[in-house]
Amino acid sequence: MSFATHLYTVQVKTPQVYNFLNKFRVTHLKIQKAMSMATKKQNLNDEEVTAEETTHFGFQTVKESEKVQKVHKVFEDVAKSYDLMNDVMSIGIHRIWKDIFMERLGPSHGTRLLDMAGGTGDVAFRYIKYLANTPNPKNRQSHVTISDINQHMLDVGQRRAKDLKYDEQSLSEMSVEWKCEDAEKLTFPDNSFNAYTIAFGIRNCTHIERVLSEAYRVLRPGGRFICLEFSHLTHDVLQWLYDQYSFQIIPPMGQILAGQWDPYQYLVESIRKFPKQEEFKEMISTAGFQLVRYENLSFGVTSIHSGFKL
Ligand SMILES: C[S@@+](CC[C@H](N)C(=O)[O-])C[C@H]1O[C@@H](n2cnc3c(N)ncnc32)[C@H](O)[C@@H]1O
Repeated sequence: MSFATHLYTVQVKTPQVYNFLNKFRVTHLKIQKAMSMATKKQNLNDEEVTAEETTHFGFQTVKESEKVQKVHKVFEDVAKSYDLMNDVMSIGIHRIWKDIFMERLGPSHGTRLLDMAGGTGDVAFRYIKYLANTPNPKNRQSHVTISDINQHMLDVGQRRAKDLKYDEQSLSEMSVEWKCEDAEKLTFPDNSFNAYTIAFGIRNCTHIERVLSEAYRVLRPGGRFICLEFSHLTHDVLQWLYDQYSFQIIPPMGQILAGQWDPYQYLVESIRKFPKQEEFKEMISTAGFQLVRYENLSFGVTSIHSGFKL
């Protein structure tokens, strides 16, 4: 006997019981309807969420918005120990790579440089030092804007600048600005700079092509884009050795020295996900740059890519 037939029998025989059971049935139907609507809504939400583009955060696949937050957290967490850890992990070699990077840029007095993802100022300080050691007979004024998405990194950089006397007050032929900016959507007007540097920064950005297109936009015609980034080794055996060092040593070292494993695990994974030298060169050309070239340092552990806006 169905529930409805059963109800009919009860209705005839005992109306009070019928009313009670019918109320129960209606309430039950209402609850079922509400639950089905909630499920539909949830499915819609899920579709909306999964419709957001995904990207990689190291070896994890994450939503694009999530990557931005995670990268921000990484650099917020490491800001204070960043310089020490750079020295330890690269056995000081990052200093040589950055020196070579500045040599390749070879700035002259009067340059307006945007040092993007400038972090704690390593590249900008080399630029200031380079120009301070270059004769300036015409007393031309140079400029550097150190820009980063993370204010914590910039704060550490500004304190370092003060200690090193690389701040605005201590320099006569150089103006210095620190500015929190997202490399993917800069607020600077078109044609604002004649050099754009980015060292170990572009790998952390979600849309490399947007960073390149913004770099192109803010550079003046004749301006140069130059990027120092971790890259891919040119020899398989060396790559294997490097992988052993990266995955077995770096995260434990991060844990021991800075009390943090995850940012260093992200570091090594993000390096492996970054495009290979030729592919990155192609991306720079696609953004509009010309005379694009690259040079491997330390067998491809890092590479310097550059191009001109002509
Ligand atoms: C490895 S550090 C490099 C800092 C400095 N250039 C150096 O060589 O020491 C990477 C920097 O990229 C910054 N960064 C990540 N995503 C960014 C974005 N979308 N726009 C600007 N900076 C970003 C981080 O906040 C971090 O300071």
